[in-house]
Amino acid sequence: MAARAPKPAAPPPAGPAPTVLVMGAGLIGCWLGGRLQAAGATVHLVGRPRMLQPLAAQGLTLTDLDDGQLQLPAAQLQLHETVPAGLQPDLVLLCVKSGATAGAAAELAAALPAGTLVLSMQNGISNADLGQTAAPGLTWLRGMVPYNVAELGPGRLHRGTSGQLVVQAHAGLAPWLPWFTAAGLPLDVHDDLMPVQWGKLLLNLNNAVNALSGLPLREQLLNSDYRHCTAALVSETLFLLKQAGIRPARVSAVRPGMLPRMLRLPTPLFRLLARRMLRIDAQARSSMADDLARNRTTEIDAIQGEVLRLATRLNQLAPTNARMSQLVRSWSPRSQPLSGRSLRKFLNL
Ligand SMILES: NC(=O)c1ccc[n+]([C@@H]2O[C@H](COP(=O)([O-])OP(=O)(O)OC[C@H]3O[C@@H](n4cnc5c(N)ncnc54)[C@H](OP(=O)(O)O)[C@@H]3O)[C@@H](O)[C@H]2O)c1
Repeated sequence: MAARAPKPAAPPPAGPAPTVLVMGAGLIGCWLGGRLQAAGATVHLVGRPRMLQPLAAQGLTLTDLDDGQLQLPAAQLQLHETVPAGLQPDLVLLCVKSGATAGAAAELAAALPAGTLVLSMQNGISNADLGQTAAPGLTWLRGMVPYNVAELGPGRLHRGTSGQLVVQAHAGLAPWLPWFTAAGLPLDVHDDLMPVQWGKLLLNLNNAVNALSGLPLREQLLNSDYRHCTAALVSETLFLLKQAGIRPARVSAVRPGMLPRMLRLPTPLFRLLARRMLRIDAQARSSMADDLARNRTTEIDAIQGEVLRLATRLNQLAPTNARMSQLVRSWSPRSQPLSGRSLRKFLNL
């Protein structure tokens, strides 16, 4: 495919362009970094050779379910295996998986000036807190990415679902908001991100179900047995959140409290009523599915693990999430995908 000039979503704002460091140039990091660069920001991508080598050879291509396409030629990408010495970014986007947060935070602390803004764009609830503990000199903010980004091929990333990024309010972030808008990444700013993060976590409870099913997300969601598994995980979590006085925010077409009921509908009715939820590319899978396929550490501790920690704090049990967590942890590359029925049986449903 011939390289063509990337088109930003809106004209770049007046004033100096921000320098953005993406820590963890994977699916989300390259997606956000690539779009910001196309809008005129100076972007440095810090990542692993597996991801950087194809970018250095072929550049970065970003597509989305709305038929958008952006291409950044290799020569325009600033790629690094470690945080470049002497760099003073205006903003860091932390885009590593949750298990890599503490390590990445320590590397950032060693290389960047005190007070540098670090926005965690990760799933889970506690990544910004983990970063704060590992690198207390940096300023940690919470963010939430509502959509799915998948790798279609080397250097080719695709956003397969939709939604708006949400970030925690901070005065230091204000000058850069127009740049995110120009990049087609408008930020919804909230004072308290915790309810939004829990709202997203409720949806992420399906990641493990999807990973164990071996199916694309849409196909898995159209299977009533798998949906019953997710509904049970969500119900259990909603009960605990209520006990804890946390009201999860709505981050999808369906209100959090309605999710279990919606998921338990017969498939023809679910297909009809969950049209927006099902607006997913046919091939999209959860990133936990990719992690299991590649035998990498999953984010089960940041998702089901967070529910289990909440249960412990409340002196309660979360048996379905506990069993799910156990299943994922004991998964091996030789394990066969589980049918919906088998998964229900494992979860005692
Ligand atoms: N993908 C999605 O659709 C999606 C959607 C919403 C939210 N999220 C969340 O966004 C976060 C990132 O997910 P992702 O799918 O983008 O993950 P990813 O594709 O695995 O990208 C993270 C990359 O960062 C690398 N990395 C880890 N530690 C590093 C370090 N110290 N220095 C440089 N690179 C490092 C990883 O390498 P190693 O493999 O060697 O660790 C990996 O290549 C997760 O919390 C995820 O849950 C993902």
